[in-house]
Amino acid sequence: MQNDKDSYPRFDYNEHAKTLAPDDFLGQVKRTVKGEPVAEEQIKMIVDAIQASLRLKPDDKLLELACGNGAVSRYFFDSCADYLGVDISEYLISVAKTNFERLPHYRFVTRGAAEYVRHESHPEHFSKDLCYAGFCFFPAADAIEVLHTLYDKFINVQTLFIGNLPDKDRAAEFYKTRKPGTEELSDHSTAIGTWRTREEFKQMAAGAGWKVEFSFMPKEYYAGHYRYDAQLSRY
Ligand SMILES: C[S@@+](CC[C@H](N)C(=O)[O-])C[C@H]1O[C@@H](n2cnc3c(N)ncnc32)[C@H](O)[C@@H]1O
Repeated sequence: MQNDKDSYPRFDYNEHAKTLAPDDFLGQVKRTVKGEPVAEEQIKMIVDAIQASLRLKPDDKLLELACGNGAVSRYFFDSCADYLGVDISEYLISVAKTNFERLPHYRFVTRGAAEYVRHESHPEHFSKDLCYAGFCFFPAADAIEVLHTLYDKFINVQTLFIGNLPDKDRAAEFYKTRKPGTEELSDHSTAIGTWRTREEFKQMAAGAGWKVEFSFMPKEYYAGHYRYDAQLSRY
């Protein structure tokens, strides 16, 4: 679909995933380079980065926002007591349920992130929170609401890992052949989502009460040259 005003492409994960094989877990969440799925070592780097930040313990209750098809989530099930994965894509959640759900303690639900956090009736249940390669797709108001609600209502969440954020200061490392405008870089509905500088992200998180520490993937990581990770903790 084209944006009339600027003619840059929009992207819909739900529709995209439906065009691929039901077991093309990497393709469905666009974990590809030039259309080819990334190597298994790349997934290991992601899992290692998440584990290094969250340091999951056997009694942890993990909430994951924008969990996609659960193909990464499954690697955390043996490290925590309880897991809930939430994603706005009905199709990706159906893939997660079919392939990775382990009831009653490792569950997936279809819901937008902001709507989910707004309505969760037992927010104090969770002790850790993860949002990998998904936060940049939240509409701006939802991103702010999620950060505020996690801080205010999910009071036992001490650590929140928001990974794979597109770095506005390094957008030129990704867009080698054209220079996207400000509107495109701020648009959550493109294939990359909203680009933010680390300073912008830090300000937004601090406004909700979170202290932020940034980290970067190993240089071998396929998207490391234009992305960063953020670990949020309470002051
Ligand atoms: C690149 S995929 C990442 C999926 C998964 N976290 C992973 O790393 O494999 C981005 C995901 O964000 C989800 N998403 C986009 N907007 C969302 C929203 N407002 N609330 C919840 N999930 C959303 C998409 O449906 C998609 O599954």
